[in-house]
Amino acid sequence: MRPMSNDIIKGQQIYLRPITAQDTELVVQWRNSASVVENFIYRKPISAKEHMEWFENKVLKGLVHQFIICRREDGMPLGSVYLQNFEEEHSKAEEGIFLGGEQAHGKGIGTEAAKLMLDYAFGELGLHKVSARVLAYNKASIRMHEKAGYVQEAYFRQELFLNGKYEDLIFLGAINQVA
Ligand SMILES: CC(C)(COP(=O)(O)OP(=O)(O)OC[C@H]1O[C@@H](n2cnc3c(N)ncnc32)[C@H](O)[C@@H]1OP(=O)(O)O)[C@@H](O)C(=O)NCCC(=O)NCCS
Repeated sequence: MRPMSNDIIKGQQIYLRPITAQDTELVVQWRNSASVVENFIYRKPISAKEHMEWFENKVLKGLVHQFIICRREDGMPLGSVYLQNFEEEHSKAEEGIFLGGEQAHGKGIGTEAAKLMLDYAFGELGLHKVSARVLAYNKASIRMHEKAGYVQEAYFRQELFLNGKYEDLIFLGAINQVA
């Protein structure tokens, strides 16, 4: 297991800081918002209790490395980005990302956060590969991941049954060229 960094990761228009228990209310609100739920595979509403269980059992134990994306100019929290499903044997993990409000979308924030997370995964943790699973209709996420350095690797037709409909899923991956 690779311990999560406690450092702030600085970018141009944002920085990433480690998530804390005090972020619970905000994260639960973001995670349950329509624009996030409709693009996530796990659809059930998340309670503060469930999020705290995730925080204590996953984040505090180092199984998930989760950060809050903050606006650099004033520290305003905008969303969250994390690495989960670590596979030590293969030196890889899976990335997840969401922004809180739709007013934050389309300004390059997601791309910068995803890039910072790759720098962290490769530079700080020394992982070899980071992957992302994205619903095929989520064009913003596909484009954002590609801009951040991911490549589309696989297309799974009708992979998931969501809201009474089978949905296609795209698997993207980024490779560390030096480790
Ligand atoms: C996915 C998400 C993190 C992207 O963050 P963002 O800050 O909006 O992304 P960026 O602005 O960096 O990049 C988005 C890109 O997608 C493009 N885009 C947006 N909607 C699009 C669409 N319907 N079709 C094609 N491209 C689209 C944007 O134009 C932009 O590309 P460009 O810079 O070349 O113009 C954000 O939209 C989000 O939180 N969505 C809800 C949760 C989610 O989907 N999470 C990912 C689950 S896999």
